[in-house]
Amino acid sequence: MSEKRNTVTKSTKQNPETVNSFKCVFPARSVNEGFARTIVSAFVSQLDPTIGELSDLKTAVSEAVTNSIVHGYKDKNIKDSLIYLTAKRFSDNVVVVEIKDKGCGIPDVRQALEPMFTTSPSEERSGMGFTVMSSFCDKIKVSSTVGKGTTVILEKRFSST
Ligand SMILES: Nc1ncnc2c1ncn2[C@@H]1O[C@H](COP(=O)(O)OP(=O)(O)OP(=O)(O)O)[C@@H](O)[C@H]1O
Ligand SMILES: [Mg+2]
Repeated sequence: MSEKRNTVTKSTKQNPETVNSFKCVFPARSVNEGFARTIVSAFVSQLDPTIGELSDLKTAVSEAVTNSIVHGYKDKNIKDSLIYLTAKRFSDNVVVVEIKDKGCGIPDVRQALEPMFTTSPSEERSGMGFTVMSSFCDKIKVSSTVGKGTTVILEKRFSST
């Protein structure tokens, strides 16, 4: 006879709930870097952010979007080069923004995250994009597969109530 096991886990810690979210998809064109900044800015305005918080997140988002455009899709036809942007706002005032591309991917993510590492020195890139994202957000997660694409997740807590 099989034994039925019941497990009950009780915790006083409550997981934050998703309060609001959006998803959008747009072509990887440099004109859309401004679009991404603006849409994220409009979304977090619900949190009544300080000018500094808002500017930090917008800068981090535009670094990630620029990377998808200039690195991720550098060898691809613009027609099927899309950027997938999603954002979630949680009940503890944390905002999580995901920027995803289906471009060439990054062979060594650890190396790419190092300050001043760039594969495009001739285009006058300084290799500081990921460093800027890390310093302007509370958390950054980068996952990438060569030939499949890159996902950057930015997390930032806002001080507003
Ligand atoms: N979405 C992406 N797809 C493919 N490669 C990427 C992507 N994002 C970053 N990389 C790689 O990681 C490297 C480091 O990125 P980072 O943004 O830190 O610097 P950069 O873009 O080279 O220079 P900067 O951002 O200062 O103009 C890039 O040079 C590129 O090789
Ligand atoms: Mg960059």
